[in-house]
Amino acid sequence: MTRGVFGLGALSIVVLAASALAACSGDAAPGDVQPPGWDEALRLTEAVDLDPDPAVVHVELVAQTSTVELGAGKVGRGLWTFSGSVPGPLIRARRGDRVRVDFVNQLPTPTTIHWHGVRVPIEMDGTPGASQPEVEPGERFTYDFVVPDAGLYWYHPHVDSAASVGFGLYGALLVSEPPGSVEDQLPADELVLVLSDVSLRADGTLLPADAGGELGTLFGREGETILVNGKVRPTLGARAGRAQRWRIVNAARSRYFQLELAGHTFTRIGGDGGRMNSAVVEPRILVIPGERADVLVTPTGNPGEILKLRWIPYDRGYGSTEYREAEDVLTIALDARPAVAPAVIPNVGAAIAPLDPAGAIPVSLHLEQLSTDGKLVLGINGLPSWDAPPIEARIGDTLRFDVTNGMDWAHPFHLHGFFFQVLDEGGAPRAPIEWKDTVDVPKLGQISVVARFDERPGMWMFHCHILDHADAGMMGMVHLQHPGH
Ligand code: C2O
Ligand code: CU
Repeated sequence: MTRGVFGLGALSIVVLAASALAACSGDAAPGDVQPPGWDEALRLTEAVDLDPDPAVVHVELVAQTSTVELGAGKVGRGLWTFSGSVPGPLIRARRGDRVRVDFVNQLPTPTTIHWHGVRVPIEMDGTPGASQPEVEPGERFTYDFVVPDAGLYWYHPHVDSAASVGFGLYGALLVSEPPGSVEDQLPADELVLVLSDVSLRADGTLLPADAGGELGTLFGREGETILVNGKVRPTLGARAGRAQRWRIVNAARSRYFQLELAGHTFTRIGGDGGRMNSAVVEPRILVIPGERADVLVTPTGNPGEILKLRWIPYDRGYGSTEYREAEDVLTIALDARPAVAPAVIPNVGAAIAPLDPAGAIPVSLHLEQLSTDGKLVLGINGLPSWDAPPIEARIGDTLRFDVTNGMDWAHPFHLHGFFFQVLDEGGAPRAPIEWKDTVDVPKLGQISVVARFDERPGMWMFHCHILDHADAGMMGMVHLQHPGH
């Protein structure tokens, strides 16, 4: 074989050898298989780790307004950013690491950072009133916590959340397994995809957070400009036949992301709190606001072919699908080299013990629109968040939340600080089993979830992750105390 190509230039030999290797083996080095610079257009700014200790990730985040290039000729002016970029810097850590974030608020309004999905102590949850005071303009706060679970998480303010997130304040926190885990067998070509949208005027400035008035709040505001890692329709390179691992988070204030890649399926291996106990193959992937998805995608097609990842309207209630069209969100440009033979995807199911719903304490939560005099108010069990008493719980309790939806719009139900398992119709944890913190409650539908409350007393929020709804009152608290209180 080597003798056969003898006499060709050194470069040709390398190319031939690399493609021969790639064609017969699924584990060629990643850099040799994907086209050069394949993910450059989507690369997130990464937070710089200031601590040499490998078990400590120490970063700085500054909330500030900035002008941001969005690609496709678009510029966002005066966006609210973490450290000047939208999304904010990607923070990388390994399971068990200590994460320390020196946060500086340079915005003109008070804010905080909430670590969505991370099992932090209450002092680090970023919820004013429940866990910390608001961080005033010009002030600082240090978030310091351990990341106990591998998975993709994200961060965003918990003050005026709809406005803040809509204006650009969000970023991803990727917690990987330490080396030597079963995840080493997964495709090494990994991409974090932060999906969001923004409402811009023609001159690139932000539309006011209350644009569209009460109807905007009732529906949940969706920005007209869809962003993937802060870019408008960026291009991703791919080698046909080579699997990529996409770690997706929906950071939009209201928009549901239903994604389709014509002629392809997605193998979903995980979600909010890491890997599931078995994979599912899906023709479309749905990621609701706040939710995450860990999917394997193997682009296929002819060399040089262009594929489009599309956003497909999802029926979350009136106005979500009527007169709306699918939109391209990401272009996938296949390499000019021939396809490689797809590798067999290993089984990397996580061992997750199902929670036993039998002894769980039932809690009914009814999501509804409350009668109003002029101002739209949403609430849970008849009360808006500002009037609602907390749900009392004791450390060690397992609670079953039966969430019913009295509205003609779906709501993404999110619980802070604790994962839950979603129950199926028979009342057992739904297969595949996974740890979740955000789940869809369909319009006029219902869902039940179980959560076990561990040793972290405090006031833990739950709310609709259509942030316009949360701000309009669709929030509540679990007051977790030591037994005996
Ligand atoms: Cu992303 Cu209160 O949550
Ligand atoms: Cu809602």
